[in-house]
Amino acid sequence: MQGNAEYSILIVDDEEMVREVLTRRLSQEGFDCCQAPNGQEALEVIRARPFDLVITDLKMPVMGGAELLEKIKVLCPDTEVIIMTAYGTIESAVESIKRGAYYYITKPLSTGNVLFHVEKALERKQLTRKVEQLEKEVQGRYKFEGIIGNSNEIVEMLRLVSHVCRTDSTVLIQGESGTGKELVAKAIHYNSRRSDRAYVTVNCGAIPENLQETELFGHVKGAFTGALADKRGLFQEANFGTLFLDEIGDTSPATQVKLLRFLQEGEIRRVGDLKPVQLNVRVLAATNRNLEVLVQDGKFREDLFYRLHVIPIHLPPLRSRREDIPLLARHFQDRFCSRLGRQLQPMSGEALSLLLRYEWPGNIRELENVIERAVILTTRDSISAEDLPYHIQGKKISSFLKQPTRETTLGEMEKNYILEVLERKNWNQKSACKALGISKTTLWRRLKEYGIDPKLLLQSQS
Ligand SMILES: Nc1ncnc2c1ncn2[C@@H]1O[C@H](COP(=O)(O)OP(=O)(O)OP(=O)(O)O)[C@@H](O)[C@H]1O
Ligand SMILES: [Mg+2]
Repeated sequence: MQGNAEYSILIVDDEEMVREVLTRRLSQEGFDCCQAPNGQEALEVIRARPFDLVITDLKMPVMGGAELLEKIKVLCPDTEVIIMTAYGTIESAVESIKRGAYYYITKPLSTGNVLFHVEKALERKQLTRKVEQLEKEVQGRYKFEGIIGNSNEIVEMLRLVSHVCRTDSTVLIQGESGTGKELVAKAIHYNSRRSDRAYVTVNCGAIPENLQETELFGHVKGAFTGALADKRGLFQEANFGTLFLDEIGDTSPATQVKLLRFLQEGEIRRVGDLKPVQLNVRVLAATNRNLEVLVQDGKFREDLFYRLHVIPIHLPPLRSRREDIPLLARHFQDRFCSRLGRQLQPMSGEALSLLLRYEWPGNIRELENVIERAVILTTRDSISAEDLPYHIQGKKISSFLKQPTRETTLGEMEKNYILEVLERKNWNQKSACKALGISKTTLWRRLKEYGIDPKLLLQSQS
């Protein structure tokens, strides 16, 4: 137990004798004691400073113990309360316990008995304090901006991330598309010692192979035709900070050699320069491709793979941690609502169970898109099943729109075909237009003719 002097106790009784006896005994034990002759004065003292424990008589003029208890539980719910009562009023003492008092003691008092219960109450208080403190520490340690999830998989992953933050190790983040790799890379940088230094990200897949080397490592003037001046590479931009190499699986063989060299020696060589440059850069890499397979196929250097693989972080697909779906859906709904200035109630149970059943090939990014679209589309005060894309609703729209005609007209055939393709393409506008060989405008016009809102189309890639 902590030193008693750290605990403050307020003694409330209209009998001065009782106050005096208790104050003397508890002060002897080292507690920090105050007194008040009734509930009202006690409240004034409490408003001025909080107490760990209040010991109060039940029957007092001006304000009794029951009312005082009620006010304390509102004003400072962490304060423990012990009620003192004469034999005749045990029932109301029991009532007090129901209303949050810690214990009641019957009069006439034995100071030993009082002391016993005071210590018990404060022990409990100490325990609560400790739990709160631990909770705060844990929250602080694992607080990663915007990463939502409560599943074991995510909690485990964040635990690993929190360790990784405190090191300078190279980290390889793997996971399907849309599982949050970029989000995690950012979290690592901004929770690391390098957080106030540069965070440079580069999507290796977006740079043509022949430009990767100069983009990453820079070049000197005259290194090749067109190299009119020296160019700093992204590695140099990231010096003392973090470089995030996204889509690492898409790097050219020449770039891979240079990356390996950096990871082994901590130095780079600009294109056309013989002198190496020593740099202090922490490398994070990510890929949604299976690097092991690329290594087997000879498309990715095995030695580089092992250098990157020092600390692998694997982001689980959303379908393997469905318990996070409600949390994420709620998070995205709130975000889009505030962005669009809408106010919505929690979504219908039916809508939520559709989301829980779906496979989510596009993972969190797909969920995010679906919720955004639903927030825009819904005409009610909450998202319902009808606001979700057809492929999530699991309805076969073509089958109920098809009319049972003896002879199918050309127009009907076209309509059936368009709807079939849309279903196959999960209502993705881009892929459907491509498969049908028509423009977006034509597709929209047709849907309107069929009485279908073109806003149902999904705009995402995939
Ligand atoms: N745990 C999460 N909590 C909240 N939002 C998340 C979470 N994970 C991912 N997101 C969001 O999902 C979207 C996709 O995440 P991100 O871009 O990090 O995926 P990725 O793994 O890099 O995908 P890709 O392989 O396609 O590049 C982002 O908008 C991101 O903010
Ligand atoms: Mg990404």
